[in-house]
Amino acid sequence: MHIVCIGGGPAGLYFGLLMKKLNPAHRIQVIERNKPYDTFGWGVVFSDATMDNMRQWDAQTAQEIETAFNHWDDIEVLIRGRRMRTSGHGFVGIGRKKLLNILQARCEALGVELVFEREVNCDEEFPDADLIIASDGVNSKIRNKYAAAFKPDLIERPNRFIWLGTNKSYDAFTFDFRRTQHGWFQAHIYKFDDQTSTFIVETTEDAFKAHGLDRADQDQSIAFCEELFAEVLDGAKLMTNARHLRGSAWLNFQRLVCGTWSHCNGKGHVVLMGDAAHTAHFAIGSGTKLALEDAIELARQFQLIGDKREHIPQVLAAYQEIRAVDVIRIQNAARNAMEWFEVVGSRYADTLEPEQFMYSLLTRSQRISHENLRLRDKSWLEGYERWFARRCGVETAAGAPVVPPMLTPLRLRGVTLPNRIVVSPMAMYSAVDGMPGDFHLVHLGSRALGGAGLVFGEMTCVSAEGRITPGCAGLWNDEQAAAWARIVAFIHSMTAAKAGLQLGHSGRKGSTQLGWEAIDQPLAQGNWPLISASAVPYHGNGQIPRAMTRQDMDAVTADFVAAARRGASAGFDVLELHCAHGYLLSSFLSPLTNTRADEYGGGHENRARYPLEIFRAVRQVWPQERPISVRLSCHDWTEGGNTPADAAVFAQLFKEAGADLVDCSSGQVWDDDKPVYGRLYQTPFADKIRNEIGIATMAVGAIFEADHVNSIIAAGRADLCALARPHLADPAWTLHEAAKIGVRSIPWPNQYLSGKSQYETNLVRAAAAATG
Ligand SMILES: Cc1cc2nc3c(=O)[nH]c(=O)nc-3n(C[C@H](O)[C@H](O)[C@H](O)COP(=O)(O)OP(=O)(O)OC[C@H]3O[C@@H](n4cnc5c(N)ncnc54)[C@H](O)[C@@H]3O)c2cc1C
Ligand SMILES: Cc1cc2nc3c(=O)[nH]c(=O)nc-3n(C[C@H](O)[C@H](O)[C@H](O)COP(=O)(O)O)c2cc1C
Repeated sequence: MHIVCIGGGPAGLYFGLLMKKLNPAHRIQVIERNKPYDTFGWGVVFSDATMDNMRQWDAQTAQEIETAFNHWDDIEVLIRGRRMRTSGHGFVGIGRKKLLNILQARCEALGVELVFEREVNCDEEFPDADLIIASDGVNSKIRNKYAAAFKPDLIERPNRFIWLGTNKSYDAFTFDFRRTQHGWFQAHIYKFDDQTSTFIVETTEDAFKAHGLDRADQDQSIAFCEELFAEVLDGAKLMTNARHLRGSAWLNFQRLVCGTWSHCNGKGHVVLMGDAAHTAHFAIGSGTKLALEDAIELARQFQLIGDKREHIPQVLAAYQEIRAVDVIRIQNAARNAMEWFEVVGSRYADTLEPEQFMYSLLTRSQRISHENLRLRDKSWLEGYERWFARRCGVETAAGAPVVPPMLTPLRLRGVTLPNRIVVSPMAMYSAVDGMPGDFHLVHLGSRALGGAGLVFGEMTCVSAEGRITPGCAGLWNDEQAAAWARIVAFIHSMTAAKAGLQLGHSGRKGSTQLGWEAIDQPLAQGNWPLISASAVPYHGNGQIPRAMTRQDMDAVTADFVAAARRGASAGFDVLELHCAHGYLLSSFLSPLTNTRADEYGGGHENRARYPLEIFRAVRQVWPQERPISVRLSCHDWTEGGNTPADAAVFAQLFKEAGADLVDCSSGQVWDDDKPVYGRLYQTPFADKIRNEIGIATMAVGAIFEADHVNSIIAAGRADLCALARPHLADPAWTLHEAAKIGVRSIPWPNQYLSGKSQYETNLVRAAAAATG
């Protein structure tokens, strides 16, 4: 075959040499616009897995790369006058120039034709090529020419960055954060040979413009960065090797994915590779790794399927199928890390204490967890745990085990929760006429015995018409209050847990069947009329609600107030106002369900007006020393619905009205919403609201291990973690998870004490057996 690689970056060169090695009869050309041994960029970072892969495919190149590698373990963080360091993070880096030189020399040795200083404008310049590899980087002309076929999805990210280098060798991957009068700048610094380090400076568009960097040439930009980062540079100069870029050398990262990776141009096939096909943000340093792995996969498919012209379509289809999955995985991991750097100035740099800031930085991708940090640097993590516990009022005696973040207490107003685990409100559909019964006593009581710090009952309805189903619990009469008081008294007398009451009104989602019948569907008989912000049903089959009148509002407010009064006298410690999931108060907040033309519809303040009226009325009768939480749907997951930015506005309004906690849930407002599920998928909402609005938050949703909770609490992404389904599977989730991470100090109920040490010993035995 005649194969032409347009672009002699890592992708084009490595693919060229692999194919030549596979079959020397192929004619392979790599066409590069730059001079030989002349390139941009500084250091690139690899993982061990990429190296293993490369070793299998061309041991000689791998060997040369490994010889040139620089290895380092430490991460150092500079912020607000502090310099902090942790170890065990294991990076390897190599200069981009060095890498390309190795690949170029290997190509030449194998007989790949390298053509330099030729700008390719179009694939048709190679009419006799069987296969054209578009390895011409992120601004690929070839991809742009066939954009209709390749369907590129290019998103320009908001931050600005500039790639620089310096002749100073740092012995740690160094992050330096500096505040200017216009905002924060950060430098990502890592060495790649004995004398040189990559020095990437990043900031927001606002700070970039405010400092006039949009009008600065490269020398002016360098002078600015040298002054700002003078301390960490310690006299060293910054350098650019991107003189080919005109004007400002500050770039915006372009996140790219392509719907299709190959195209037949009538004569031969064109296929995208490396940055031309996809990009990964430098926050996780995987661009070069992806380019090399693309090259390996395409060569592997030729080896598997056959390397004749007729095999090309099948090979290209298999290549895309396999690589697209890997690319999405890396891009997802990169996204969290990239977003962290985009919001670091507005969210963390001024508010988190330096210790916690560093923890947040280390866990930014949400792939490195608390226990993962322990494996990397045990003494640093224990020091951090000790610091965190002290901040929560828990001193660790010398030699004593440290209390992990999830088991530290939290004080809200006059109520101190013994730990950060919350049993999330869960409808049980087992009440009769709104009365909680023995089931509720046993259900909630056993979860309190199981170690959670706060146990919420289910959404408790403020009126009979405010129920979701006939089985929902309520608090609209004194008998119900007495039944709840019995449950709360049990929790208080037998456990250290606090009792939470979630008050709600079903609104347009009322009058439906029990959760295990036809959920959200109207009753077979005995339906009651519904009210909501507007006459918008939950789904096509649903009953159409009546838009609330002023009289309706007054009546429902009175119901909330009466229920809150009863809840206070029943002894509940924490009240939560249910403003999520499409129920009555949520229906006011979402523009999808609130189409009102009066002062209760329209902008944020109007949509929040009625929920806030209720909040204030309830706050007046709820004891001052007891906190109130507000549950929000922080994302409607539907076009035109609320987003986390809207939720932050509502959180601010509730904070001003006196809320103590925002419980950050999402969805269930619109029937065919499209949530993006995944581990800890709603935690970013809690993080945003806590650190931008400055109010305590509760994270919820797909949190199911102690490691998750410790990571969230330690990083300051939330103050509490609510777990629902894990508590259905295991009432003693907290006690069991504490044992799994080796915490012996957590108290078990006296009655169950005999079971504790056997449980712990069995876990130790199972762990020993698993590790052989
Ligand atoms: C300025 C810059 C600096 C970077 N520095 C680093 C770094 O220090 N560390 C890191 O990990 N990643 C870095 N990256 C990202 C990393 O380089 C890429 O993810 C990786 O190189 C992708 O490899 P590639 O072969 O697909 O593309 P590239 O490395 O971009 O290679 C594409 C090649 O095609 C050539 N080319 C483009 N168009 C034409 C044309 N029309 N005709 C002929 N030749 C053409 C280019 O000159 C280039 O050599 C940098 C990216 C940029 C843009
Ligand atoms: C059976 C069940 C009933 C629920 N009922 C309620 C409820 O009454 N009020 C509420 O706000 N959320 C309710 N939820 C949502 C949970 O509180 C929680 O937000 C959700 O399940 C995500 O947490 P998880 O991933 O830990 O299960 C319920 C969830 C389940 C599984």
